[in-house]
Amino acid sequence: MYHSYHSFARRCDMIGIIILPIAASYLIKECFIMAKMYYEKDCELSYLNGKKIAIIGYGSQGHAHALNLKDSGCDVCVGLRQGSKNWANAEKAGLTVKTVPEAAKWADIVMILINDEVQADVYKKDIAPYLEEGNALAFAHGFNIRYQQIVPPAGVDVFMAAPKGPGHTVRSQYVNGKGVPCLVAVEQNATGNAMKIALAYIAGIGGARAGVMETTFHDETETDLFGEQAVLCGGVVDLMRCGFETLVEAGYEPENAYFECIHEMKLIIDLINKGGVGMMNYSISDTAEYGEYVSGPRVLPYEETKKNMRKVLDDIQDGTFAGKWIAENKNGRTFFNSKRANLAKHQMEIVGAELRKNMLWGDDADPDTASN
Ligand SMILES: NC(=O)c1ccc[n+]([C@@H]2O[C@H](COP(=O)([O-])OP(=O)(O)OC[C@H]3O[C@@H](n4cnc5c(N)ncnc54)[C@H](OP(=O)(O)O)[C@@H]3O)[C@@H](O)[C@H]2O)c1
Repeated sequence: MYHSYHSFARRCDMIGIIILPIAASYLIKECFIMAKMYYEKDCELSYLNGKKIAIIGYGSQGHAHALNLKDSGCDVCVGLRQGSKNWANAEKAGLTVKTVPEAAKWADIVMILINDEVQADVYKKDIAPYLEEGNALAFAHGFNIRYQQIVPPAGVDVFMAAPKGPGHTVRSQYVNGKGVPCLVAVEQNATGNAMKIALAYIAGIGGARAGVMETTFHDETETDLFGEQAVLCGGVVDLMRCGFETLVEAGYEPENAYFECIHEMKLIIDLINKGGVGMMNYSISDTAEYGEYVSGPRVLPYEETKKNMRKVLDDIQDGTFAGKWIAENKNGRTFFNSKRANLAKHQMEIVGAELRKNMLWGDDADPDTASN
């Protein structure tokens, strides 16, 4: 009896081991919308054969896309405004540079990598007049299409190749044989090949090495704006600033407050980036982990914070945020500029600048080669 009970229990364990994960993965698939992913094997770079690609802008994303595509063997030129401070940089990097209208006229694929808030004016004046049927218009963020600031003609493909990381990381990862994951979306498929061309483009900038998630201009714009406002930029900066000010106002040295609340943020995020919150908790002390559980919800009350986040999302979804940002740019950016100037004077920025001078190693000052 004893023996057969145990073999029965062991058999149940085995069934559990085999069946439960299958059932769980089935349930997960049923409960969540699974994203469509593409990798290098799904992308054919040959869709860019014979195509001339103009990268408009040579900032964070522009320099990375142009150099990565060139290194992938594509026919690339950079489109810049007359007198651009980046003209000489792009030429020095071995790229052909033209004015924006010249580049748009020359190209089959026009990737717009200038600031989102100026794209509509530049598009109308310097790009739209030169678009021909069968060309492609590309973006790394959907703002201007989502909020109808740019309305492309029907005969062109409109796609998105949006790296989920800063341009300098897009370049440094590519050089290291790796890639930054990308989002792909097709808004207009005039040629019937828009998705193939978009995936080829993403393979050319190295993104397919890491994975490409299919989305829409609508969803990319809304989730991107939400992420940066509620968590990545708005949320994180205010969290660090609150922590810094709390310690300084309580009489601790600002240097100490900087190390605790700002410098260590990257070290913690690196662990989460590598192995999730579990890896961070494994690496920190049990005291820190206990503090995480008891004090996290005190500084960030869940339900209230989620209600506030929901309001931020509502403003993004109904166009309130976009309307305000477009008006801010038309009205000389007074709010934006005063906020930027005040931040530069904040003690955490001044103390941080001093401390960081002694914390640069090797190439760290160069964003393209800094350790990411
Ligand atoms: N940065 C990121 O991490 C990131 C990530 C994903 C997607 N994106 C998207 O990528 C796009 C580009 O962003 P970015 O951060 O790479 O921009 P950025 O670094 O600020 O570079 C802007 C470029 O646009 C040019 N430019 C600005 N105004 C112009 C005008 N009126 N006429 C012609 N050129 C003009 C600048 O020219 P000069 O060289 O003359 O100054 C510069 O080369 C945006 O759609 C953004 O949302 C950015």
